[in-house]
This record gives sequence, structure tokens and C-alpha cells, in this order.
Amino acid sequence: MLILGLNMFHADASAAIIEDGEVKFAIAEERLNRIKHYAGFPTLAVQACLDSLGAGVTDLDHVAVGQDTEANLAKKVKYALANPRGILNFIHLRRRKQAMRDVRSLLAHTLNVDRNKLHFRQHYVEHHLAHIASAYYCSPWEKAAGFSYDGSGDFVSTMMARCEGNCIDVLERIFLPQSLGSFYTMICEFIGYNQYGDEGKVMGLAPYGKDTYYERLREIVGLNNGSFKLNINYFKPLGSNQGMEVTADGRVRLARHFSDEMVKHFGSPREPHSEITHREMDLAYAMQQRFEEAFFHLLNQLHQRVPVEELAMAGGCALNSVANGKLFDRTPFRQTWIQPAAGDEGLAIGAALYAYHGVLGEPRRYEMKDSYLGPEFSDTHVESELKKSGLQYRKLEREPLLETVAERIARGEVVGWFQGRMEWGPRALGNRSILAHPGLPNMKDVLNARIKHREWFRPFAPSVLAERQHEYFEHDHPSPFMLHVYKIRSNKRQQLCAVNHVDDTGRLQSVAREENPLYYDLIRTFERKTGIPVVLNTSFNENEPIVCAPAQAIDCFQRTKMDALAIGPYLVGRSDL
Ligand SMILES: [Fe+2]
Repeated sequence: MLILGLNMFHADASAAIIEDGEVKFAIAEERLNRIKHYAGFPTLAVQACLDSLGAGVTDLDHVAVGQDTEANLAKKVKYALANPRGILNFIHLRRRKQAMRDVRSLLAHTLNVDRNKLHFRQHYVEHHLAHIASAYYCSPWEKAAGFSYDGSGDFVSTMMARCEGNCIDVLERIFLPQSLGSFYTMICEFIGYNQYGDEGKVMGLAPYGKDTYYERLREIVGLNNGSFKLNINYFKPLGSNQGMEVTADGRVRLARHFSDEMVKHFGSPREPHSEITHREMDLAYAMQQRFEEAFFHLLNQLHQRVPVEELAMAGGCALNSVANGKLFDRTPFRQTWIQPAAGDEGLAIGAALYAYHGVLGEPRRYEMKDSYLGPEFSDTHVESELKKSGLQYRKLEREPLLETVAERIARGEVVGWFQGRMEWGPRALGNRSILAHPGLPNMKDVLNARIKHREWFRPFAPSVLAERQHEYFEHDHPSPFMLHVYKIRSNKRQQLCAVNHVDDTGRLQSVAREENPLYYDLIRTFERKTGIPVVLNTSFNENEPIVCAPAQAIDCFQRTKMDALAIGPYLVGRSDL
């Protein structure tokens, strides 16, 4: 049985395909059309899903969309009409609903096939239900607490559920305008980070601040009775687009979230790209602090209702790896399974799996053990791209490749590492990565000056051999998808100085050999040379979506000042091959 999952006309549009309940391929449209957070219809992603299985759109049995325009409609209409642009908002809602409801025509049109030849059944899965499904149905568990939170989706910001067997039983929905995601976005915008997805950057700024504004932010986010309540005077009404606008070419623009009340209390908002002062650092600090408190408050409430140790979690806020890393100390949950594509691209997988298990009642067998669900490219393809580029290269067997790359990293070089299938989700996890020595004091500056050009306060991440994690970090709960931040042990901070953040933490990836043998063996080889079972891992890109195809990797290598590129079995150097 073939099911196509879709996230469409929404940020991070994506497609995933499952065959008999197993996720075979999944990709965000941005990786193919190169428009970051693309929010149109994921035409190229759908085609890539079908091509990966040699299938045609007429072979699909079901298509599931991770959005249900009918869900919570009464709440949406009430809110839309109550706000100043009421009737306009209402019209937008109706138009959007009509477009979303005819997936058959959309697919027929975009893939150029006769609509009458498409026989699949359509399913619409409520946004947060799809988020929770994307975590729970990928986990190995038969029972778990399900939690999803983000800015908004289908007019809901937070969902709690009891997950058991095939069933995801929704216990609680928190509706807009109450939203921890909107709170985070609002403060980020105020301090000059107003692009969709900037929240992750500001998380890195938070530990530079102190608690100057903590009490004030407590007034903006109140906690009560297992829930939270925003002081909406600080927010602008979100309108029918729930805080986002999509341009004609599918780009996402955030609407202004903060009201003049913020200006009254905190002064003028910071202009993007201007100097960052203590005010911004302190606001970031208080925002992260209050966000975490609300998060733990909600999780503790969820645990009272679903008293198990297992937590299955997704939603854009679940990318807050700092909060995730603390939840073991602040809640009774002991195990997490967080969808690597916790943001909205993950809805494609969640919707498809929900159709299979939740709607069709098919038994669960699948477990997502790694995130390598994207495309891969043959050596022949890679070599032909290298030839086109005119770069000098040589082909190496596995062992010499590992030896050479590890040696180069050990002596301080920055190496592009392009191997196997592309990662699903926003993190590069050793297949589309740029790698460097984690223990060289100037490495962060080198990477920023030569390749990444990121804000000075953003840390780089470590990939650590899974069984050595406990020696280096204060928590040993695995973080295979780089979704937890843990304290680095004091005796290891020097060894990891290039990935040790200002608060002595690291957003680690635990690398188990069975999940990625080549990457594991590379880190192992690096350890033999340096004594450190860790490499610095940052995504393979330069202010663009992470590279997907060899030509993009080669282009990025040529544009930037990487020292070497290992692409499949081929090694490309600057002048020293
Ligand atoms: Fe979402």
C-alpha cells in the first residue's frame, strides 16, 4: 500500500512516501527548489518520492495532508471575525480551504496527468495530530505521552495526547492566540530577528544574558492550572494567516507579532543587523527561561494525565534543544523520541503514518532508526559533476578515505563531507555536513570567517560516538538527531573548546554505528589520531538550504574556503591532493 504524505501551502512544504507502513523517502521542497522554508505546493518533492520507488502518481492508494481546514473551524471563524480585518480574514480562510480540499486536481495539474486516472483516497489530518503521529508512530513504543507545540497550526498551538497501540487520543488543545511559539517569535522579532526560523539563532544568544527582564516576561506568560496564558496586550492580532504571509513565489514572511505595548516597556525594537546590546541578550535570556518554565509546566501536567516515562514529541518548538536537554531534570519523563523534522516539514510523515495506523488501523511495525530518508547519488553521477567543475580529485577506497579525511581534520582543516542519503529534517547529521576539529580554540572563528558567516554568538555542534557520550556530557540519554543540549563535563571542556558554548553546553549528535557506519568510523579514526571521539559538525551550506545534490556541494565548496571536500569516494583538495 502506497501513501503519500504532504505538507503544502504552508512553511516547509514537503512530501513523504510510505510503503506498507514504512517511510521510504521524505524531503522538504526547499532542498530541491532551493527556496528556504518554501511554502507553496511541493511538486519536486512529490516527484522525488514517486521516483524513489519507481512509482507513478496513479499508483498511490492514499494521500494524506497534514492540515485539516475543517478542524477547529468554529474557533477560527470566531477569532477571524473578532479582529479588525475580520471579514477579509474570513474570505482568506474560505479560499484557502477550497484549494486545500482538492488534492486530486492539484496533483493532476502539477504532475500533468489526467485527474480521472487518480484513484487514491484523501485524508486530512489535523496539524498537531500529524505532529504527534510523526513522533509516536516512528518511536519503538507501544505507549507514550504525546506532545506537540509550535506557533500555530489549524488554530491550535499545543496538543497533548495519550498514545497507545494504534491510537492517539487527544487530551488537550490550546487554541490561538495562546501560543508559546508566538511568544518566542514575538520576542525574537522585537530584538531584530524577524525571519521565519530565526528562533534557533536567538536560543544561542540567551546564555549571554541575565535575568533583568525575567519578572516582566513572567507578566507576559502566566502559568495557571497546568496551562499558560499570554498577556495579549503585548501581541498584535495574528489574522487569518496565523502570523505568516506567503508571497506569490512561495517565500514565507512573518507578520509583525509585537504590539506597541512592547515598545512602551522595552523601548524601540532593535533594527536587524545592528549592534546587539545587553538589552537583547537579557531579553533572549528571560524569554528562553520563561519558555522553558511554561514547557515543563505543560509536560508535568501531561505526565499527571499520562503517567509513563516515554515522551513522543514534535512541533516547531520541539526544536528548542536547550529545553529538551533539561526536561529529564525538570519532569518525570525519562525517555524522549523527538521527530528529527519536528517543524512543519515533518507533517508529511505524520499525516501519512496517521492515515495508515490511525485511520486504516494497520498494525505498527516501523521504527525510524535514522533520518537518512532523502536522495542519494551514484559514484558515476558524482564523478561526472566533478569533471564538469574542472576540479582536481582522486578516488579512494573506504579506509584510505577515512584516514585521509580524519588526518586533515586533525591538522585543523575544514572538510566538506557529502555521503549517502540526505538527512530528513533541519539538521545535518553526517551525510551533508562540514566537519572540523572540536578542540582548536580558533575553529569557530575560522568557520565563520571562511564559510558560515554566522552570528558570533551561535555555537557549533559536536557529533560524539554514542558509547562515549557519558564521558563527555553530563547526560547519557542519546540525542541521535541533535535535539538535546547537555552540559559538557568540566574535565572535557578544553578538548571540546570549539563546540563548548558560553554556558558550557553542547547541542550534541550521538552517533551509533548501526545508524551511520561510515560517519561513525570517521569519528573513530579521528579519535585514534587525536584521542577525541568527537568532531565538530555543521550543516553543508552557506546561507542557503542544506546542499542536496553533488553539484550544489561542489558549488558551495568552490564559493567558500573549505580546505577539502569528500564527496562519495572522491576527495577534492585545494592544491595538495
Ligand atoms: Fe507545526
